[in-house]
Amino acid sequence: MRISIIGCGYLGTVHAACMAKLGHDVVGIDVDADKIDRLSKGRAPFFEPGLDELLTSLQATGRLSFTTDISIAAGSTAHFICVGTPQKRGENAADLRHVDAAFASLLQYLDAGDVVVGKSTVPVGTAAGLADILAERQPEAHLVWNPEFLREGHAIEDTLHPDRFVYGVPGGDEDHRAVAVMDEVYAASIALDTPRMVTDYATAELVKTAANSFLATKISFINAMAEVCEAAGADVTRLADAIGLDERIGRHFLNAGIGFGGGCLPKDIRAFMARAGELGADQALTFLREVDAINMRRRTRVVELTREFCGGTLLGLRVAVLGAAFKPESDDVRDSPALSVAAQLQLQGADVTVTDPRALTNAARRFPELNLEPDLDACLANAEVVLLLTEWEEYRQLDPHLVGRLVSAKRILDGRNVLDADKWRTAGWAYRGLGRPNA
Ligand code: UDX
Repeated sequence: MRISIIGCGYLGTVHAACMAKLGHDVVGIDVDADKIDRLSKGRAPFFEPGLDELLTSLQATGRLSFTTDISIAAGSTAHFICVGTPQKRGENAADLRHVDAAFASLLQYLDAGDVVVGKSTVPVGTAAGLADILAERQPEAHLVWNPEFLREGHAIEDTLHPDRFVYGVPGGDEDHRAVAVMDEVYAASIALDTPRMVTDYATAELVKTAANSFLATKISFINAMAEVCEAAGADVTRLADAIGLDERIGRHFLNAGIGFGGGCLPKDIRAFMARAGELGADQALTFLREVDAINMRRRTRVVELTREFCGGTLLGLRVAVLGAAFKPESDDVRDSPALSVAAQLQLQGADVTVTDPRALTNAARRFPELNLEPDLDACLANAEVVLLLTEWEEYRQLDPHLVGRLVSAKRILDGRNVLDADKWRTAGWAYRGLGRPNA
């Protein structure tokens, strides 16, 4: 099938590459000429494991091309809208400017029978509004809402082998023409028995925001337990292991630490609250305000813990921060808890050096005032306290004896609870985890 993908950010680039891998003839379209230039050379504009290799291998097939010219979308059967929906400045609501612009510029190139596929995360009600416009401008084309659930760092696998497909069509009609087109797009995955659900527009839109809200709630729940464990002298990691053994609860997304960040969970729960307010259902989601507050409190808690751990003052304290990305296997620093902690420490007078295997270029753009050091050993040299804030594998594997020779004081604060506390203590370190006993 010939497919156009509008928006070559995280979602769009990965989707374009994966659709081409499935055998479709794909054109990726974006207004950013630099991005298109890089992609045309087979290079992703961000780090995602396996993506550069996939883009390079697809170049030889001729099935994947990139352009800034939206008119090239003409002739495609399916047109995926994959543009970003960031948080509005100074508000909780989502900014739909890019969705509206992409949709408007696509309209004139649509033919009868074409399917416009919304993948961006949007407030419930958006699809119905766009469908009304489509019905006026090209009544023979269709709109389907097909939310995306990919995780950064696992984006290719999540796109090729998702847990489920959700298609939102008018009235949730299984026999809608767009359903057959979507089944053809995803034929390879559907053949592997991936569950596929057809719903109305509003349900499809809500599936995405509800899923992200649930995940955020799970993380904040365990972080709230961490606060209680800190007060009671209990160990939140053992608590999570024990409650996670109950199948109804499950162990996934129960890792207490410095909390969630990134381009999705924080802004999606805020946009969801804003939309519920517009719908008169704000009471239903007031708990998400608490989820957000617990999450933000973790960052302050790490700063306070660092102060307490190091004798009551941060002034002039040499701090080595390991990790800048919002999570490992990503160079994304949007709303990164690690960088937020580093910046707060620096503001309070600490002498902070941050390292990360992938995210320093993006970190420098967002926090030019931070001291960034690509070399791990140089970052650790003479540190009076080490903060592990993003759990990259190379930080999990650090040898406490070797690190001990570089630092000037053996104090480690494990912001993700991924280190073996006994091993570090045995090597002479003072170890602190979050929601874990002191000794
Ligand atoms: C998320 C959703 O998982 C994905 O389905 C959706 O499509 C987009 O948003 P992503 O933002 O890539 O994906 O990251 P995710 O793996 O969900 O992690 C989000 C944040 O939560 C990270 O900062 C991570 O460090 C943190 N986290 C995750 C925890 O603090 N504890 C956990 O147990 C799990």
